[in-house]
Amino acid sequence: MSSMNEQHVAGERRNAWIGSAGAAGTDLRSDTMTTPTASMLAAIQSCTLLDDVFREDPTTMDLEAHCAALAGKEAGLFVLSGTMGNQLALRSLLTQPPHGVVCDHRSHIVKYEAGGVSSLTGATVKPIVPKNGIHLTLKDIEANVYLDDDVHTCPTRVISLENTLNGMIMPLEEVQRISAFARQHGLKVHCDGARLWEAVASGAGSLSDFSACFDTVTLCFSKGLGAPVGSILLSDKAVIKHARWVRKSIGGGLRQPGVVTAPARVGVDETFGRGPNGEGGLLRETHVLAKEIADMWTGLGGKLFHPVHTNMVWLDLDAANCPPSRIEELGAEVGLKLYANRLVIHYQIYQNREAVVPKLKQVFERVLQERSGNSAGFEPARGDTSMYRKQ
Ligand SMILES: Cc1ncc(COP(=O)(O)O)c(C=O)c1O
Repeated sequence: MSSMNEQHVAGERRNAWIGSAGAAGTDLRSDTMTTPTASMLAAIQSCTLLDDVFREDPTTMDLEAHCAALAGKEAGLFVLSGTMGNQLALRSLLTQPPHGVVCDHRSHIVKYEAGGVSSLTGATVKPIVPKNGIHLTLKDIEANVYLDDDVHTCPTRVISLENTLNGMIMPLEEVQRISAFARQHGLKVHCDGARLWEAVASGAGSLSDFSACFDTVTLCFSKGLGAPVGSILLSDKAVIKHARWVRKSIGGGLRQPGVVTAPARVGVDETFGRGPNGEGGLLRETHVLAKEIADMWTGLGGKLFHPVHTNMVWLDLDAANCPPSRIEELGAEVGLKLYANRLVIHYQIYQNREAVVPKLKQVFERVLQERSGNSAGFEPARGDTSMYRKQ
């Protein structure tokens, strides 16, 4: 049978609310490819349809209050995307230049938000290479912040941490150390927690444990949780009040957002789980499957580019002399959508694992069989990399 996408391309429109039986069940490019489910559609049908600029919509306000309570924060603000959440957070924490932000050099805020931190806040961003290759430590931060008031320097005002970053967890103790340091020096701390749900589901700490370390936290609904749209910014009431203002100024005030906040709530309840540790949720199983898939690759002789902590498996394609386009071709031949060296094992892949895993095995075998044959013309990636740019 053709995929749902092909049916749509062909102009045929059928019920698309079929979760892992649709396109997402074979799409490992990202957890943003998860598609909304029938229970999300049911929630949309019974949501409220009132105005959120006037703050009258119960579905939206309930979602904000629920997420704030899960994370132990005073207030929440629904935003259209993770990028919007990060940008509003930084715009709200930073006041008057000169001011600087430090972050991991691989952070979404510095690599993939169109330079928004500089244009929206005027801040100088200092990207840091973590010494351990996995996550920033307090030592990395101490070596890179500017705390003095020397007239030549751009003083650091915000430390921005991303957790998980490339699927890797920054342990709670490290976050706590960095947070204590920041408070001691009057710095603010932001968490790009697009995938903080994953760190929590893995047992690294509760949502409230992590959130307590930060002034602002963004969480995404439209990635691993499977909702169609949106993220949330959590903080204290004063910061959220300011962020609501900034959101309005960039056109993010919403009229009847119940149609997107209702499925977001289903994503939190059903995919993440009902408690602050993801109790009853679906993410933990995806981490187990990700480790099994990584073992399958290494068992066949492949190497990993990053360790597997949660739902991402990073293949070392350079070591396998395999250009990204080749693994994508091999994936397409067996009906899997792949993107370069990153496999994202989201929950709809887990639900379709019986079909996906044998196909992945075929792809892995072909990549590793072709290894020596490709070496002559193979050029490994050079320079700074982007997830969205082919080398
Ligand atoms: C870690 C991280 N933060 C923020 C974002 C931005 O989210 P959005 O695409 O909703 O703007 C992404 C997107 O993939 C992300 O991976």
